[in-house]
Amino acid sequence: MKVLMVGSGNVASVLGRQCKQKGHEIVAIASRNPQTGMTLSEELNTRFISVQDAGNMDADIFIIAVSDSAVKEVASSLLVPGKLVVHTAGAVSMEVLQNSSQNYGVLYPLQSLRREMKSIPGVPLLIDGNNDHSLGLLANLAHSLSENVERANDEQRAKLHVAAVFVSNFSNHLYLLAEGYCQAEHLDFKLLYPLIVETASRLKDASPAELQTGPAFRKDISTLEKHLRLLSNYPKLKLTYTRLTDSIMNF
Ligand SMILES: NC(=O)c1ccc[n+]([C@@H]2O[C@H](COP(=O)([O-])OP(=O)(O)OC[C@H]3O[C@@H](n4cnc5c(N)ncnc54)[C@H](OP(=O)(O)O)[C@@H]3O)[C@@H](O)[C@H]2O)c1
Repeated sequence: MKVLMVGSGNVASVLGRQCKQKGHEIVAIASRNPQTGMTLSEELNTRFISVQDAGNMDADIFIIAVSDSAVKEVASSLLVPGKLVVHTAGAVSMEVLQNSSQNYGVLYPLQSLRREMKSIPGVPLLIDGNNDHSLGLLANLAHSLSENVERANDEQRAKLHVAAVFVSNFSNHLYLLAEGYCQAEHLDFKLLYPLIVETASRLKDASPAELQTGPAFRKDISTLEKHLRLLSNYPKLKLTYTRLTDSIMNF
């Protein structure tokens, strides 16, 4: 399939690399950022063009992998009647693409992607299309990129995005708070890595409802009070600790 990628950030880099690895032709990288655009186009052995020139290229599928707030604006300047145009955002409606072509859809990777990633094994690709033709073409591409392809409409995708914020962004924020606390107390945060990995890996076999442990779950009041005393010099951490403890105890 001939693929044109708009954008040169995390998703454009990882999806572009994956498309190339799976034998698709990347006809161009269209990017407003010449630096990252040229780096990516050189890696993928294709040409670098401006976003405004994307519509002049011959491609089967145009993937708009730009910031959520820019998808609509980029789509408004991309007029490619008959071609398939998709975006990669969880929280943006498919309908923002309706003026670009009569065939449009969404290719949303449900994973935290960083431009350095060389492959995306097992990443769920959530797809949607405005008609059977769009959906069929996109399904062909998606199945060539991942063994884990599901259909999700705008509402389902947005709700999964909310859940993704909980499991990924919020848990990482908690790691960050714990790392700061360890640094302030001259403790080695790396000692917690096996615990982090073990806690996440248990989810393969059981629901989080069956896996909750800790003093809040056991309603171990003396330990909770001791922890709060240890956090007395860290008001923000103490607040987070209290809120999450309440959430666990009231579940
Ligand atoms: N990263 C993830 O984990 C992930 C996962 C699933 C879905 N997504 C979705 O994929 C999309 C891209 O995310 P990303 O992580 O790749 O973002 P990113 O790394 O920040 O890259 C964003 C790209 O959009 C370009 N851009 C921003 N505003 C633009 C505009 N007005 N006109 C033209 N280009 C513009 C940026 O160019 P500059 O370099 O010039 O700013 C950059 O190339 C988003 O919709 C995001 O929600 C991301």
